[in-house]
Amino acid sequence: MSVPAGQSAATPKRLVVLISGRGSNLGALIEACEQDRIPAQVVGVISNRPDAAGLGFAEQHHIPHQVLNHRDYPSREAFDADLATAIEDYAPDLVILAGFMRILTPGFVDRFTGRMLNIHPSLLPKYRGLDTHARALADGEPEHGASVHFVTPELDGGPVIMQARVPVAPDDTPETLAARVQRAEHRLYPEAVRRVCSGEIQWSGRILQADGSPLEAPLQLDEDTHDVSGPDARSRPPHPVG
Ligand code: GRF
Repeated sequence: MSVPAGQSAATPKRLVVLISGRGSNLGALIEACEQDRIPAQVVGVISNRPDAAGLGFAEQHHIPHQVLNHRDYPSREAFDADLATAIEDYAPDLVILAGFMRILTPGFVDRFTGRMLNIHPSLLPKYRGLDTHARALADGEPEHGASVHFVTPELDGGPVIMQARVPVAPDDTPETLAARVQRAEHRLYPEAVRRVCSGEIQWSGRILQADGSPLEAPLQLDEDTHDVSGPDARSRPPHPVG
């Protein structure tokens, strides 16, 4: 990520967060920034739904926020054009999708290549799309989790930078499993964002790099220590980078 002119390397990175609903990941990111766990600040929050509860987090923390209601637009392209303008007005270093329930047009995605992240509630490449928890349970998966990835035009298909794994309990329902995954997300997303903000992880659209070397498998958030496994993660089977 390049440092904009006039800013030193120590200048906090500017995050714009896009939400559609509850915003618990937004809350976790705001907290991590405020506690200096991420060298960044959330400078703007945009929701495509006026009733998104997550807007309350922005309000409470005095973060500029706005609603761009997709229902007010005649086409996906028209909405995405205004969304891109609204985002650029905040001059962000990173665009963070946090439960933003919109399929984005390729032109929009291309504009933010290498500086737009998403969190998805599965161990990608497994279970792209919706109902991930019910699908994992139906398949009898012993573990499930969440992934943070750079966004590409392919839905949930961009290069995965970090994952959090959780065990599946025998009596889990989609709801109990979702709650466990979300708790992990709230540690995973700030940690992944921190690594991108620090420049440790980079993706320009071609090769995903961690500390200057190709990252062939997603980093893993350690369930107990909140830390990341190093050599172990790198020795996992290569994961296709989108
Ligand atoms: C999270 O589970 C995330 O993985 C998915 O949408 C959900 C958003 O939750 N993309 P919240 O709005 O952050 O509470």
